[in-house]
Amino acid sequence: MTQPGEPFEIDASLAAGISRAADLVLRAGSVVALTGAGLSVESGIPPFRGPGGLWTKYGEPPLDGYQRFLSDPRAAWQERLSPRQSWATALHETLGRARPNAGHAALARLERLGCCDALITQNVDDLHRQAGTQRLLEIHGNHRLLRCIGCTRRFAAGELAVDPEDLPPRCPGCGGIVKDDTVHFGEPIPPDVLRGCFEAVENADCMLVVGTSATVFPAAEFPYEVLRRGGSVIEVNPHESELTPLSTLSLRGPGGAVLERLVAEVAAGRERAA
Ligand code: APR
Repeated sequence: MTQPGEPFEIDASLAAGISRAADLVLRAGSVVALTGAGLSVESGIPPFRGPGGLWTKYGEPPLDGYQRFLSDPRAAWQERLSPRQSWATALHETLGRARPNAGHAALARLERLGCCDALITQNVDDLHRQAGTQRLLEIHGNHRLLRCIGCTRRFAAGELAVDPEDLPPRCPGCGGIVKDDTVHFGEPIPPDVLRGCFEAVENADCMLVVGTSATVFPAAEFPYEVLRRGGSVIEVNPHESELTPLSTLSLRGPGGAVLERLVAEVAAGRERAA
């Protein structure tokens, strides 16, 4: 697994694969990107599964995380405000320090080139936003935001006063309970984001899938939807995933180096065509 700052050699067969991928992107009508934890590994954030994965190390969290929140939101907030040491605190510390890497920057550049109509991320780390991606759909939420579970209104850090004596905090708009924006296991995906994802996927004829094991739904369904409609799927992953056998192209390398090269070739192709 490529660690932050570790150089990666792109050999001839990968270089050829990247050129074919650039050609697919340039000829596509609508490109949508789907990213997962693997893209942020080079920013120092561990993945969930596989070698060095959080769940591999600590075990998968209970699948009823959301029901637990709903059964006692006050206790959940007290835990959030003074967390006991666990994988969650370790993850939050890492998220706080992390910065976008070359992969995030490349996808933001692809959008500026007019070759990425939407980016769906499963990551809650805010790094695509920091890298400048505009048409961003955070399907599992964002760890820097809070959200009302009544009206789905979101609050940036500091925008909503949280009184430890009066928990859980309530939405000033609808009075609903406010929780962190990250989507817990067992929690429905917020309808506004899900609608945005379906609309983007419906129009896409090319999907760039980077750094995901493609095992968690509904996000894992999206590449199959594009394939079913005759579109192409380009996977970027140093390891094989559930999606590899069905991908149009599977580029075996780390997100940073591969995307940087892919987007540079797309930019050159745009210039030639201009
Ligand atoms: N570049 C690209 N991909 C990488 C890199 C890298 N440098 N390093 C590892 N990977 C790949 C792994 O091979 C693996 O296939 O990233 C993938 C990470 O898979 P998971 O850890 O399963 O992460 P993800 O697919 O995003 O998980 C989906 O599961 O637990 C939930 O909510 C959580 O959003 C998460 C969802």
